[in-house]
Amino acid sequence: MSISPGLLPIGIELEGGEPAVLNAARFNRHTFWCGQSGSGKTYALGVVLEQLLAHTGLPMVIFDPNADFVRLGEVRSDAPKDAAAPLRERDIRVLRAGDTLRVRFQALPVRIKAALLSIDPLRDREEYRVMLDLAESLRRSHPQEVVADLLSSEDSAQRALGLRIANLGVLDWDMWAYDRQSASEVIAERPDATVLDIGGYEHADQSLLVALSVLDDLWQRREERRPVLLVIDEAHNLASGELDSPLGQAVREQLIRIAAEGRKYGLWLLLSTQRPSKVHPGIISQCDNLALMKMSSPLDLQELAAVFGFAPDALLARSPLFAQGQALFAGGFIAQPELVQMGARLTHEGGSDVRVPLR
Ligand SMILES: Nc1ncnc2c1ncn2[C@@H]1O[C@H](COP(=O)(O)OP(=O)(O)O)[C@@H](O)[C@H]1O
Ligand SMILES: [Mg+2]
Repeated sequence: MSISPGLLPIGIELEGGEPAVLNAARFNRHTFWCGQSGSGKTYALGVVLEQLLAHTGLPMVIFDPNADFVRLGEVRSDAPKDAAAPLRERDIRVLRAGDTLRVRFQALPVRIKAALLSIDPLRDREEYRVMLDLAESLRRSHPQEVVADLLSSEDSAQRALGLRIANLGVLDWDMWAYDRQSASEVIAERPDATVLDIGGYEHADQSLLVALSVLDDLWQRREERRPVLLVIDEAHNLASGELDSPLGQAVREQLIRIAAEGRKYGLWLLLSTQRPSKVHPGIISQCDNLALMKMSSPLDLQELAAVFGFAPDALLARSPLFAQGQALFAGGFIAQPELVQMGARLTHEGGSDVRVPLR
């Protein structure tokens, strides 16, 4: 089977049985991927990411809450040799929580440190001011020393900030980079793929902080215009309108900004979720590519039909009947809206499904 360069084989057309292909060039738009739990989203996403890795030089960052992509660099022994060969050459970095997935505290902008510490610039005026003044000492000294100085200070606002940091215990988290590489620094080297195991932390705030630090850093460097595909599985975790913690709000706002303005800087989103209604409308409405797997909820389907006018109603209506691994593709990345049976993975699925022990 020979397919033109720039076209990614992802499976077989349900009607007609021809190879189904996506246009790699159109991943320079945002993509929305949805389907109920178990419909095969993560597996299918893996199929597409493998093809992007094999056939393009588009680096990707994968926000992976369930450790589903931690084996993306491991080719399956039953994978066709030719198809899998390019994957063996790729630079795939897997950053694990509690190990190599790290954030540089000193490098966080003040507004992110404030979100982390729940400091409001108006409500907590004094502590916020102390934090603004801290930038210089954080450049010179280890954060633990800075906090020790705050705690023994004569100034009540400094002591208050020191107590806040100590009481929250954030500096005890094992996620700080200190003299090691942070996730943002790894991504700045643009490996072919960087997998972020953001679900592996004890506190939800740690996942949000890693995501925020990475997205914020990419946004700060947007004028460099170095393309990157930001793949977010279970995107409702980072993009829900219901996130109300300061960190959650900040992550969502950053995603809304990237959805609205990221395209021209080469910051392209690929968001996957089982709860389309839980992804902020300001994000969904910016997506030009749609992949829809089985979804039984009529309400969700109605909403999708309203947002994705380019997906024909007759095909959307088939979604509740899809078997696992079947999907509707519509939008710029496919020549015409198409129903597809996804092909097989070339690399191992990660995942942490607990199996029933058999005798
Ligand atoms: N096309 C497929 N071929 C073979 N197995 C699949 C396929 N799609 C999904 N699966 C399997 O079904 C299970 C659920 O799929 P998954 O992709 O995790 O669903 P979702 O992300 O939509 O919840 C996984 O164990 C996966 O290995
Ligand atoms: Mg999944």
